[in-house]
Amino acid sequence: MGAFQKSIAITGGAGFIGSHVTRLFVKNYPSCRIVNVDALTYAGNLENLRDIDQLPNYIFEHADICDEQTIEQLFGKYNFDAVIHLAAESHVDRSIMDPLAFVKTNVLGTGVLLNTCRKHWSDNRDNKLFYHVSTDEVYGTLGETGFFTEETPYDPRSPYSASKAASDHLVMAYYHTYSLPVIISNCSNNYGSHHFPEKLIPLMINNIKHRKPLPVYGKGENVRDWLWVEDHARAIDTIFHSGTIGETYNIGGFNEWKNIDLVKLLCSLMDKKLGRAAGESEKLITYVKDRAGHDLRYAIDATKLNKALGWKPSLQFEEGLEKTVDWYLNNEEWINHVTTGQYQQYYADQYSRR
Ligand code: NAD
Ligand code: TYD
Repeated sequence: MGAFQKSIAITGGAGFIGSHVTRLFVKNYPSCRIVNVDALTYAGNLENLRDIDQLPNYIFEHADICDEQTIEQLFGKYNFDAVIHLAAESHVDRSIMDPLAFVKTNVLGTGVLLNTCRKHWSDNRDNKLFYHVSTDEVYGTLGETGFFTEETPYDPRSPYSASKAASDHLVMAYYHTYSLPVIISNCSNNYGSHHFPEKLIPLMINNIKHRKPLPVYGKGENVRDWLWVEDHARAIDTIFHSGTIGETYNIGGFNEWKNIDLVKLLCSLMDKKLGRAAGESEKLITYVKDRAGHDLRYAIDATKLNKALGWKPSLQFEEGLEKTVDWYLNNEEWINHVTTGQYQQYYADQYSRR
């Protein structure tokens, strides 16, 4: 397409992980045109890409992936060689409040993208790729031991994870039925800059800063496997360029934390940063009503990705968490913009009844 060697659509590029993936691709591949296709829902924020949005190989297209006609037009306009699909409704608590929004974007939206790729790539599938970014939550929940591997049967339990599982199945159906070149990766919980403060880590950072109660669900015993978002973006880059068509790759941090331990670690880190007495922020911890169907534990075995493609996480968690806290403390304007208006309403709806 034009002077560019390749044309790549990144859906959901204005979101948390999408903005890190977009930044990496725009910077590392100046010969590729990177088109960020995003509907700018509450979670999409073009401020996330301010540092790269003037670069000549970056374009933003405001579009809803469920809108077949618009997606068709974009394929006609840019003749995409590849799609990296991140656009989704992504928050479990919202999926409990409004499951159909998740069915729409995550299932129908993925179907529209797959079908458009199928039509446009029917004559020549060489060097084409539909890369689907998914989650470890499709595997359900673990007990106190064991890990999710690529062979673990799907067993989603929340409307969010069920909608992501459905989208993964659709992707594989297009591979088997139409030979569409696809790859899927399933990643564990991400953390880092530009993370919307409805998710555990940025919500706690924001609440600690403002001395607001820290709402820990249930007993805080649930375990998540945390990965620095820039390591996830690097894994996507590696798999995009070197992964095998038709395969799935698990991506994880080898880094399990009980929620309560993680919240306490954040409290002590922020006490130091904010010049508070040791133990001061921990007093804000408030145990609240548990999430319905709350998965106990997620833990990824990322051996396949490590052995096949050499990827491994680059950052220790404590270091990544400190970088993350610093980013939030240094980017007050960003956090102020995303926590006004709609966020206040969401927070009241979500937490006042707990
Ligand atoms: P996010 O909620 O921060 O961002 C989602 C983005 O998608 C936003 O920019 C939003 O505007 C856009 N979007 C939503 N609906 C759309 C639609 N109908 N059309 C076009 N754009 C739309 O999400 P995230 O945390 O960055 O997650 C990105 C992807 O990675 C998702 O597919 C998610 O399932 C997956 N994932 C997330 C995590 C995690 O820890 N956050 C872990 C593993 C996998
Ligand atoms: P979250 O960031 O929503 O990610 P996910 O549910 O997709 O893993 O939540 C991470 C963990 O933190 C999860 O076990 C739920 C818990 N949690 C709380 O205890 N309090 C909160 O306010 C939130 C948002 C999450």
